[in-house]
Parts: sequence; structure tokens; C-alpha cells
Amino acid sequence: MLYQRFLSMIKNFLLLTLPNIIFLNLKAQQITFYPRVAKIIHEHCTTCHRPGESAPFNLISYQDVAKRAHFILQVISTGYMPPWKPDTTYTRFCGERTLSTFEIQLIKKWISDGMPEGNSHLQEDTMLDRFIPNTLYNRKPDLILSMKKPYLIRGDNTERFVFIKLPFELDTPENVEAVEFVANHLRYIHHVNYAIYPATHGEDIYQGGQSATLGEDSSLAFQQFDPFVKGNEPMIHYGGWIPGTSYEYFPENIGFVLPKKGVVILSFHFAPSPIDTPVIGSLHFFFKKSPIQREIQTISIGSGGIGNIMPPLVILPNQIDSFEVTAQTTENISLLAVWPHMHLLGKSFLAYAITPLQDTIPLIKIPHWDFNWQDIYRFRKMIHLPAGSIVYVKGVYDNTSDNPRNPFQPPRIIFGDNNELMKTTDEMLTLILLYVKYKSGDENHVVCK
Ligand code: HEC
Repeated sequence: MLYQRFLSMIKNFLLLTLPNIIFLNLKAQQITFYPRVAKIIHEHCTTCHRPGESAPFNLISYQDVAKRAHFILQVISTGYMPPWKPDTTYTRFCGERTLSTFEIQLIKKWISDGMPEGNSHLQEDTMLDRFIPNTLYNRKPDLILSMKKPYLIRGDNTERFVFIKLPFELDTPENVEAVEFVANHLRYIHHVNYAIYPATHGEDIYQGGQSATLGEDSSLAFQQFDPFVKGNEPMIHYGGWIPGTSYEYFPENIGFVLPKKGVVILSFHFAPSPIDTPVIGSLHFFFKKSPIQREIQTISIGSGGIGNIMPPLVILPNQIDSFEVTAQTTENISLLAVWPHMHLLGKSFLAYAITPLQDTIPLIKIPHWDFNWQDIYRFRKMIHLPAGSIVYVKGVYDNTSDNPRNPFQPPRIIFGDNNELMKTTDEMLTLILLYVKYKSGDENHVVCK
């Protein structure tokens, strides 16, 4: 007991004094924008705050940053930016977008010293040299599959579910290292999933029009998908994009093979738009030379997947409620990534596994769920889940009027079910696992890029 009190005293002491010690060390130095502050901004902010990316303004040059300095200080001090939702004391992921206390103190000191610019001989476009336009991945895509013409979301404030086929033909099969979805008007895309199929039975991959809208187009428009989705061809990969998602990446000899000929079927869920909005979406594929020896596999737990959510996902108005779903592994697997999903009432998300030997393996904890920042989180080291482990997924939902994202004021009863076509205003509790079969040693080496 005493020992614990002592420990917590030390912890408090360190928490209170560490930033000050760092601050004292900084005091002696003159911090200028170039090169020190610029380096932090370019590494942690410019990925999104540059032309063609998701953020509303650029953070590249001295002027970009200096004119918003106080706003920037506010968003980095509260942790609102850079956006990173998982608790880093629970599990560690690749590409964590967080600033250290030291980096925050450095920016603070620079601002309180009057934001000196320092010397830079760099032009803005040189500063952008390390970024490839229109991708968050670090290199140019090897294959870009784009919609041939834009899909026009009519400005009638209606949600739409739309299927679009992207045919492809390559010279040789290619080993896929990473996949990324990009589009214009991302704010009108609630989510998009992509299913990749080969065409080995002589299917006409170009047959049919481009899009088929549920509830608007006749069943004829959907026939173009039948040769693939009705079981003739095995689905090769299934992935997706939701707000905040960066890209899928597979390390070493893990991945999937893109066949010479096939189709990608995109299923879009468009958010209601008040004005006509033409959307063009593309998939970026990044290839690797090394052969794929371990095929990536995915499984979905919860809404639209395996397991029963308990109690059934019905969220009463003016309540904060928690729900749980479990699933058991049937073989030894190595987890590469987890992809949690909830909608607007989501408040917190937790997933962990318990092995047959009763060890608890933390998977992901998101203490403050944010619908706008969802990602496919890749573990720094693969996580071994022995056969017979139970994966627990817990979601807490806030259906009170205190939840600013609650789509209904006053709150209404909200349902979630296993219907594939869920509205944003319904709820979901889902955890998708990306994994390969276990090989000894998997858990010991770092697999971040
Ligand atoms: C992963 C992409 C991403 C990164 C990295 C990122 N931002 Fe942002 N930022 C956004 C988006 C998208 C918005 C607009 C939506 C919002 O406000 O959440 C935004 C908004 C902002 C805003 C305006 C907030 C408001 O309330 O209007 C500021 C200020 C900001 N970012 C600063 C930063 C700084 C400083 C960094 C780096 C330390 C950073 N951002 C890193 C994507 C990003």
C-alpha cells in the first residue's frame, strides 16, 4: 500500500515537473521556424495539410504556420491535432500521429518568443518534394484504377448505396504491398468497400454500365456483377475506406496477388448532399517484387460479421449503453491489423483477446470515439493469437442529447442489425481483423514500414 503511494507520488512529481525541465532546457536556446519548428510541422502536419489532401488549409511555409500559430497551439495542446485516437499506453501501432511533450513545448516556446523565422533558402515547392501528390503512401502508385466517369450524387439530401465496377487487365499478375482509396469530395463518402475478383472463366469484365444505384436502377444494372459475386470466382481481397483511413500495407512476404484480369467492385455509401456533387474515386495499388508467401485474410466480428452482439444492439434514447460481441479463433493466427467501426453515437471502443491459458492480450482501446477519424490500425509487431483464443469487442454508445454528433434531437431509439446496408444514423459494432496463419517468431519482429 505504502509502496504504491510512493510510486504514485513519484509519478505525479514526474508528470508535473518533466515538461518544466524540458522547458528550462529550451529556454537557453533561440528557436526559429527554420529548421526546427518546420521539421516538426512537415513531419506531423503537412501529410494532410497540403494541396489535394484532406485538411482545409496548408501548413507548409513560415507564413502558413505563423498566421495560425495560436490556433495551432490550442489544437496540439488539447491533442485534437494531429488526429490519433487509440490509447498509446494500451497498444502501439505503426504510423502513430502524435507529438511528444518536447515537440509541443518547442512550438510553444517558439510562439512565445515572437515566432522568429530563421534562415531558409528553401522554396515552398522544395519543401513539398518529400511528398508525392495525391497519395499518403511514400511513393507513386504502380497502378491507378479510376472510375471512367464521375458518379453524380444528386443534391436532394438523400443517402445512396451505389455499386461501381472497375475492370482491369495487366501484363502479369502483381504482388500487392499496399492499397489506397482516394477520391474528390470525400466528405460525401460515408464509406466505400472494395472487393477484388479474378476473371478466369471468360467473363466480360467490361459488360454493363458503370454504376448501379440501389433503389433507383433496375435489376438489369446489377447483372454486370453477377458473374463475380454469385460465386463463380473466389474473392481475392476485401478492403475499404472510412473517414480518416490512410492505406492498407502488408509487410515482407505478406499480401495478395492481383491477377492479370479481373474487376474491383466498389460499394459506396454516399452521405446526403444538398448540391449536385460529381465524385470520382480511384484505387492506388503499390506492387512489390518479392513473392507473396502468406496470403492476407480478413474476418469481421460484430455487425455484418460473426458473433452475436449482446444485448442486441438497440440503443434507447437518453441512455449511455454498452454492448459486447465475442468470437473464438479456430487456428493459430498472427494479427497484422485491427479495424474498429461504429457510427455517430459511438463513445468508446475496446478490444482484447483472452488465450486458452487465460493471458489477456490487449488489441485496441479508443477512449474517445470519433466518427471522423477511423483507421485500419497496424500493429508494430504481429500479435499471436493461439487457437481457441476469445476476442472480446466492447462498444459504448451515447444516445443522450449531450452527444453533439447525435443525429436526433431529442434522441430517438436507434437500431443496429446485421443488414449490410446500414444508414449512418443506425449503429454498428464491428471489429475487422487482418491476419495470416501463425509462424513461429512472428511476434518478435517489427513490421512497420
Ligand atoms: C491525418 C491528417 C491530418 C494531420 C496529420 C493533421 N491534420 Fe490538422 N486537420 C485535418 C483535417 C481533415 C482537418 C479539418 C477537420 C477537423 O477540423 O477535424 C484539420 C483541421 C486542423 C485545424 C483547424 C481545427 C478547427 O477546429 O477548425 C488546425 C489548426 C490543424 N488542423 C492543425 C494541425 C497541426 C498543427 C497538425 C500537426 C501537428 C495537424 N493539423 C495534423 C487533418 C490533419
